[in-house]
Amino acid sequence: MHSPGAGVTAIVPSWLQAPADVNELLPQLWSRTVGRDADGVLTVGGLSAAEIAATHGTPVFVLDEEDFRARAVAYRDAFADAFADLCDGADVYYAGKSFLATGVARWIAEDGLHLDTCSSGEFTLGLRGGVRPDWIALHGNNKSRGEIRAALQAGLGRIVVDSLEEIEVVASIARELGVVAPVMLRVTVGVEAHTHSYIATAHEDQKFGLSLAGGQAELAVARVVGHPELQLRGLHSHIGSQIFDMGAFEVSARRLLGLHHGVQREHGVELPEIDLGGGFGMAYTSEHQPLGPAEIAGRLAEIVARECLSQGIAVPKVSVEPGRSISGPSTFTLYEVGTTKDVALDGGARRRYVSVDGGMSDNIRTALYDADYSATLASRASTAPGVLSRVVGKHCESGDVVVKDEFLPADAAAGDLLAVPGTGAYCRSMASNYNQLPRPGVVSVRDGASRVLVRRETPEDLLALDAG
Ligand code: LLP
Repeated sequence: MHSPGAGVTAIVPSWLQAPADVNELLPQLWSRTVGRDADGVLTVGGLSAAEIAATHGTPVFVLDEEDFRARAVAYRDAFADAFADLCDGADVYYAGKSFLATGVARWIAEDGLHLDTCSSGEFTLGLRGGVRPDWIALHGNNKSRGEIRAALQAGLGRIVVDSLEEIEVVASIARELGVVAPVMLRVTVGVEAHTHSYIATAHEDQKFGLSLAGGQAELAVARVVGHPELQLRGLHSHIGSQIFDMGAFEVSARRLLGLHHGVQREHGVELPEIDLGGGFGMAYTSEHQPLGPAEIAGRLAEIVARECLSQGIAVPKVSVEPGRSISGPSTFTLYEVGTTKDVALDGGARRRYVSVDGGMSDNIRTALYDADYSATLASRASTAPGVLSRVVGKHCESGDVVVKDEFLPADAAAGDLLAVPGTGAYCRSMASNYNQLPRPGVVSVRDGASRVLVRRETPEDLLALDAG
């Protein structure tokens, strides 16, 4: 292992080790077909990073189709298996907000997953990609009447109602259209979970859902049951993101099933389904050790079976909505390095700033959530030692950081390619045009071929939006 150098230890996060080999690829961070060729160039889907950059330019999101689809199918199968004996299987709704394109929706349709959307833009992509309308869910705390109407006209399988007001809106639109609207109720179960911790007492203070503790959820059930235009398909809860601790799901499932049971007692209605939402964690750095789909499905099946047994009720159909844990690890962002700069810090440490040709416009997560990422030199292998580096973008803002801390080879320089893994979720989907930067494209790779899923924007695209 290389010594990180004078004073650096003090500024290196505790989880980050100076690598023995700067070319090493930690398997949990990279999609399954990523490797290095004989020259040390990063490869994915049978293509080298250099070829991809030459064909598609940089920055570019490079999505490993085999990896994405294998994860999606692993979720589908793990949930079907784990719940097979309990309730005839469980449905997996891929959360399209993490990343969606028509090409991705096509994989979802071909591979037999359902789709979770939260706007008409998202469900339009799903329908375009051939996802069965009745396998699409529509979420949102402020859906427009137009979105609700379009969803009902398209025959979406469920509208997840988020407020008391919305019950009346959906009912009135269903009445106008002469249809019965399938709805679920999004329940705030009083659990908020992120990464390693969760709090199971409070966290009602947010915009989503109908409060269980405050009695809104029960009131909503009574109102929906009273509307002939609405068919209550079940209860839903989503408790957060990047969760590694299944204890949070246990509390949420218990509370949701308690209400499910209450509905049976009060209204004599056995709801067909509960949805436990998404939020299963993925690895962004060596610090994260996510559970796989089989373990997640197995644990959730145990939890649901135990709760139903203790409440003396039949197990309803279960559904989940993973986004990040399917799309996130499938993709890396490929950048070209520009300037590098060493900065002296108090205590004698130095930090190297490595600038790339994108930044917070293609990955806002570092600035917005203080998220950690990793990076590696992609255009070649290096024999230089690792130096503590910060990968920054080209935006006019000092918070424009992509990777806060990584040991990059000391000889990384202008013209090199740099890859940042784990950027398949909430990076392209949250990209902006800050500083009038065109957003990068998304390219999928498989078996030695690349395909554009989302075209790179051009300066002309941006000028076309400007009214002049
Ligand atoms: N279901 C519902 C109702 C959700 O609200 C979400 C995420 C998911 C499923 C999928 O969660 P996932 O499995 O992807 O964690 N922009 C933030 C994440 C916001 C998540 C919003 N809802 C980020 O970049 O971390």
